[in-house]
Amino acid sequence: MTKLWGGRFSGTTDALMAEFQDSMSFDVRLWDADIRGSMAYAVALAQAGIITDDEATQLVTGLQQVHAEFADGHFEIKPDDEDIHTAVERRLKEVAGNVAGKLHTGRSRNDQIATDLRLFAQSEIQNLQSKIGLLQAALLAQAQTHVETLMPGYTHLQRAQPITFAQWCLSYFWAFTRDVERLDDCARRTAVLPLGSGALAGNPFAIDRAALAQTLGFERVSMNSLDGVSDRDFVAELLFCCTLIGTHLSRMAEDLVIYSSAEFGFVTFDDAYSTGSSLMPQKKNPDAIELARGKSGRLTGNLVALLTTLKGLPMTYDKDLQEDKPPLFDSVDTLNITLPVTAGAVRTLRVNVARMAGALDPSMLATDVAEYLVRKGVPFREAHHLSGQAIALSEQRSIAMSDLSDDDWRNLSTHFGPDVRSVFNFAQSVASRDVTGGTSPRAIREQIDQASLWLSKHELLRS
Ligand code: ARG
Repeated sequence: MTKLWGGRFSGTTDALMAEFQDSMSFDVRLWDADIRGSMAYAVALAQAGIITDDEATQLVTGLQQVHAEFADGHFEIKPDDEDIHTAVERRLKEVAGNVAGKLHTGRSRNDQIATDLRLFAQSEIQNLQSKIGLLQAALLAQAQTHVETLMPGYTHLQRAQPITFAQWCLSYFWAFTRDVERLDDCARRTAVLPLGSGALAGNPFAIDRAALAQTLGFERVSMNSLDGVSDRDFVAELLFCCTLIGTHLSRMAEDLVIYSSAEFGFVTFDDAYSTGSSLMPQKKNPDAIELARGKSGRLTGNLVALLTTLKGLPMTYDKDLQEDKPPLFDSVDTLNITLPVTAGAVRTLRVNVARMAGALDPSMLATDVAEYLVRKGVPFREAHHLSGQAIALSEQRSIAMSDLSDDDWRNLSTHFGPDVRSVFNFAQSVASRDVTGGTSPRAIREQIDQASLWLSKHELLRS
């Protein structure tokens, strides 16, 4: 078949050039969006009186057949199908005849591809949100089981203060709520219909863009045809959302890699999410979450690739924009597998409560000792200093801070009474952090209620 744009050409395209510009290999996955857009456009053309109702019916019926061929996997791609638009129109002509030549009236592949990609992005956004929901549900379930499970909390990866494992689980839960909300925000700017922008200057046939938007599920129409065909902000935003999701996954994975090491032994991954070594028979590696950590790299790469492509593009459509699709497809594909695998790894994680408790060290209560003095009226700065001196003394004696004698304490300050001993209780330390957002079991139960409410409000667990 001749090219869609072949009229003014007498020479043929160089073979390598044809391969170079071909986008069918990747934009074929826009078939559903492309055909839905074309069906709506055929109806819009008839409503504008450009084609007859009968012609519109023939077009829609033909497009339904092409859609069915894609859906059941029988659509045959021909060598001359340089992109999804060409392929659909070529096939439409084969099934519906010459009326197919009327479909593209007033439309350009420029407003068409922008429309297709926005339709695709909208459904992928929803898909990503529900997959994040799976992971959040897994984190929430672990939190519910471990409201009172004590473990060291870290800053600088040094033991800092006792926390609960639930508090750790929920810290990532909340990070993922922001990702879902960020995707909501991205969806609002994606739901803008570019169709009707033509190649760049607008559609000359007074088609009803508002009706088109409604049929295709867009919230509004683009306000400027030049911007309509060239805006890829929605792709950049979606790639950024993916990158930040990847960053959260990677941080969580890093924690779990550390916690699952023999040195820590806090958690054990289920066999379903681990692999062995071909050489060392004893090895059980946390590959699932290592890959979650590793794949964050390509997500960042995809974002940078697109931003670099967009920078410096003159108004309006430039073929460079074809390069928007591979990074977008790769990022959503990456997360579509990473999120459920990570959810599975978290859901089936075994928590070694005794190892976590065993990693607590009395010196992690040095802050509580200072707080004990504060409750006796000592200014915090002074209290901090006195507690630090107690730590220094215990280190000098090579004993635990909790093993200092009554005399030791009294020699440091007369504010220390024998009741200082009662400070050395990890559960009590955790219970004292009872403000909203704190790590006390009561505050965690409050968080769990809020987290469950958030999940049901966002209806992420419908499926
Ligand atoms: N394959 C193209 C893309 O992905 C479709 C739009 C082509 N438009 C054009 N004027 N050549 O951007």
